[in-house]
Amino acid sequence: MNDSLDFLGLEAAPAAPYIGVFDSGVGGLSILRALRERLPDASMIYVGDVAHAPYGDRSADEVIRRSSQIVEWLAARGATMIVVACNTATVLAIEALRARWPALVFVGVEPGVKPAAARSRTRRIAVMATVATASSERLRHLIARCAEDVHVHVQPCPGLAEVIERGVLQGPTLLDVLKPHCDAIRAANVDTVVLGCTHYPLVEASIRELLSAEVAVIDTATAIAERSASLWEQSLPAFGAPPVVRVLSTGATDTIRLLLAQCPGVDHIAVEVLTIIPSILPG
Ligand code: DGL
Repeated sequence: MNDSLDFLGLEAAPAAPYIGVFDSGVGGLSILRALRERLPDASMIYVGDVAHAPYGDRSADEVIRRSSQIVEWLAARGATMIVVACNTATVLAIEALRARWPALVFVGVEPGVKPAAARSRTRRIAVMATVATASSERLRHLIARCAEDVHVHVQPCPGLAEVIERGVLQGPTLLDVLKPHCDAIRAANVDTVVLGCTHYPLVEASIRELLSAEVAVIDTATAIAERSASLWEQSLPAFGAPPVVRVLSTGATDTIRLLLAQCPGVDHIAVEVLTIIPSILPG
């Protein structure tokens, strides 16, 4: 077990302050895509912790330790803002990250319960999330705060982030994993469904296929990009250098490459393997 960081690869950093973005794997690409659209001139480094996905099956302690390692790596290379592009890491780790790096600006993602409650006419909504997010206090508080008068069906989706990580983005294997979750949501008779994991927008078409056509599906990537942009624009002067955007994976790169190729704005970026954050967790 090696807890120290290897500072090789400093050349990986853009010259100007930049936004660090991370997720357990490929899910945060849905946020990176929205960030690139909103902040085309900002430099960004994305870290997909593919070697340790899914975070949703890990303990809080493991997610905190791994998220801290990634933030330490990004901060050492000049990141001034960190977008935690993962609901699970936000739920389990963002408070510890904020406490440890008070000078960094953190933006977390959380399920869009508030917009869903605001748009639901039947006052019945569902949240799809990882097991860790679904069972978290933070989600319970969010629901109590933003959806007091709304029935909220929370649907844990074990296996879903995992299958997406394997690059299964459509077809029978994906539908087999999705169907029981979507059947439970149909039975709950809701009119609005929140995608409470950043992996899920990557298979939104299949989710829609299995839900009733009248159900609205809410993803918060654009809202997160908007919030990040307003903080970024407040905290930093404009910088004239061309933006540097890098996408790093701590493990296999196939699914990240597959998804990047489908994302306008980031489709030209080559994925680099990041082996310099030593693992302190079981693979
Ligand atoms: N993309 C993540 C989230 O938003 C995590 C999925 C996982 O690693 O379990 O929750």
